[in-house]
Amino acid sequence: MSKIKIMTVFGTRPEGIKMAPIIKAMEKVPEIENTICITAQHREMLDQVLNLFNIKPDYDLNIFKPGQTLTEITMRALEGLEKIIMEVKPDVLLVQGDTTTVFSGALAAFYQKVKIGHVEAGLRSGNLYSPYPEEANRKLTGIITDFHFAPTASNRDNLLKEGYPDDKIFITGNTVIDALHYAVKEDYNFTMSLLNDIDYENRKVILVTSHRRENIGKPMENIFSAINDIVLKYDDVEVVFPIHLNPKVREIANRVFKGNERVHLIEPLDYEPFANLMAKSYFVVTDSGGLQEEAPSLGKPVLVVRKETERPEGIEAGTCKLAGVEYESIFKEMESLISSEDEYKKMANAVNPYGDGKASERIIDIILKHVSPNN
Ligand code: UD1
Ligand code: UDP
Repeated sequence: MSKIKIMTVFGTRPEGIKMAPIIKAMEKVPEIENTICITAQHREMLDQVLNLFNIKPDYDLNIFKPGQTLTEITMRALEGLEKIIMEVKPDVLLVQGDTTTVFSGALAAFYQKVKIGHVEAGLRSGNLYSPYPEEANRKLTGIITDFHFAPTASNRDNLLKEGYPDDKIFITGNTVIDALHYAVKEDYNFTMSLLNDIDYENRKVILVTSHRRENIGKPMENIFSAINDIVLKYDDVEVVFPIHLNPKVREIANRVFKGNERVHLIEPLDYEPFANLMAKSYFVVTDSGGLQEEAPSLGKPVLVVRKETERPEGIEAGTCKLAGVEYESIFKEMESLISSEDEYKKMANAVNPYGDGKASERIIDIILKHVSPNN
């Protein structure tokens, strides 16, 4: 029996986390042969995901270079992928999300006339410069995609509005929920003693992450200053901030939080401890995309430190709130969650706009139904 040849391409931490459940589920499907190719746009941050899910790539382009520019990532990924796609000749190439790896992977497949499946299709902020360059990457990928795997009905509507045919769009849920179910465990024990020693019952532990390109500079200074001042004002508040490896982010964080003993600046956490830390935290302050999807499912309020979001579902459900990137608005929203039990309870509801943890199975079923080997 000839098999359907899939090639999965990914390169960064969030793509790894969201692609992993699809890869693991495909391993159990005899009709599918999957070739795994990582660009390694991220190195350490991606390797921890591969270890956790025990994924062994068939190809590793190893393109990562500190201080890499968008052009360099695009060129190195495109060039490396061309040869591999010509060698593997997949029936479908799968990409996930909105990074530069995603756009380069899709373009490389298109140049070889290979069908493209876009996981997490149809998210739109409406502003090409926020998130930057991700809004553009997602739209550019959509144009050459054959299978749009839209997490939600509103993602599907975005694609329909842009004229994509209905029969190419499939609502699947987001695979991040599949990954979260795998990672979060009751009575989880951290290996880092700092995280085990925190008194989650009696302290308000705020989990912070921030890395968006459009926030680097003044917006990030505002965000961190507001968080810092909140911690100074409220004795029972503690912050854990696993800082992204981007040196620009680290410089601002180290400077603004200097000397504040209740702000714990730590290295990026592996996905399993990170997800469990989120499950134990009081609320989340972030500009990350993935956290806006994960935290609502754990019933954790999220203050989104961005001007707009391509993930309106958590906001509509009331668990996420846009706090903007100005000092005053962030301080005010944090203060309200800390000092008002009513405000907190209004937001701390477990909602699941991003699916039931079965998105990967759905994606595979759709592939099996619509793709035949060697077409
Ligand atoms: C990329 C994605 C973004 C995603 C984010 C997830 C693009 C354009 N952006 O942004 O959509 O939200 O990943 O984290 O694709 N670094 C390391 N080691 C690593 C990873 C990063 O040292 O393992 C440092 C490097 O100095 C690198 C910098 O972080 O230059 C930025 O990495 P890059 O992949 O260029 O962009 P991100 O901001 O991580
Ligand atoms: N994450 C992680 N360790 C950390 C911070 C985040 O494993 O120290 C996970 C998080 O749970 C989510 C994903 O990384 O699944 C989000 O990645 P990131 O914020 O880098 O990118 P984005 O989602 O904004 O594209």
